[in-house]
Amino acid sequence: MKANDFISAQDITTDELHALFELAKDMKVNRKNYLRSCEGMSLAMIFEKPSLRTRVTFDVGIQQLGGNGIFLGPSDINLGKRESVYDVAKNLERMVDIIMIRTFAHSICTDMADYSKIPIMNGLTDHEHPCQALADYFTMWEIKGELKGKKLTYVGDGNNVAHSLLLLGARLGVDVSVATPKGYEPDIAVVENAKKDAQTFGATIEATNDATAAVAGADAVYTDVWASMGQESEAEERKKIFTPYQVNGALMAKANADAIFLHCLPAHRGEEVTDEVIDSEQSVVFQEAENRLHVQKALMHELLR
Ligand code: CP
Ligand code: NVA
Repeated sequence: MKANDFISAQDITTDELHALFELAKDMKVNRKNYLRSCEGMSLAMIFEKPSLRTRVTFDVGIQQLGGNGIFLGPSDINLGKRESVYDVAKNLERMVDIIMIRTFAHSICTDMADYSKIPIMNGLTDHEHPCQALADYFTMWEIKGELKGKKLTYVGDGNNVAHSLLLLGARLGVDVSVATPKGYEPDIAVVENAKKDAQTFGATIEATNDATAAVAGADAVYTDVWASMGQESEAEERKKIFTPYQVNGALMAKANADAIFLHCLPAHRGEEVTDEVIDSEQSVVFQEAENRLHVQKALMHELLR
């Protein structure tokens, strides 16, 4: 990879994405061939928000490559309060080889990358969740084959996950449609950037308020929680606004008959998705969760080369 860090879905080119997917696929099948790929390397994992998948897949991932992971929870570093982001970066770059950070403001992640000499990976900020999007499109590629010309429809909040899906999808030639309630659209700058890339790679990008129209022709239907981490106080108000955007059997029926259902998880069953959909044959959410492990191993392998 040309970039030193992976902070945005825009930090990886189309060619690099294809190579990364091939590597992840090989790592998934031939795990034993990579047991010493990152031997002796240390990964610091900074978490300012809770996590199941990100924590486990990064920790297990670096171990499976012969390295080791160090978990730093919210009460360990107390980023920006006990110690400045700059000082944390200047310490860690002398102690570990690579850092993953899950935080609130996206600028904390970019600052960390500016200050440190070692690679920084974004494990979720309020603005993006690029490692998630890698796993999502890798899963779609495993199941659907060539992604160019395929359509992914995201229904729900125009949040961090939606942003990374737009940006990465455009680079893979995927038609991405994001359907949200009015006032909850994805960031306009993200949509514009995705549109620019989509033009280059022959895809289309759409931000709409019409969920039913958006899922027409979809090869994958995706949703995420209505209130993200940090928005807990808005949860009740959002429930009312987002109810028409629930992914249920009736909405899935408007997509292609062989469409897959994706969700980054954790899911709030009965809110953004019904049991009927998440437990259906079309749902591949646990394969998607597992794939976090394989794509992130490939990512660390590339960034540590
Ligand atoms: N999808 C995802 O990032 O899950 P966690 O919040 O559990 O890490
Ligand atoms: N949008 C969600 C994703 C969780 C993986 C959040 O930020 O909480």
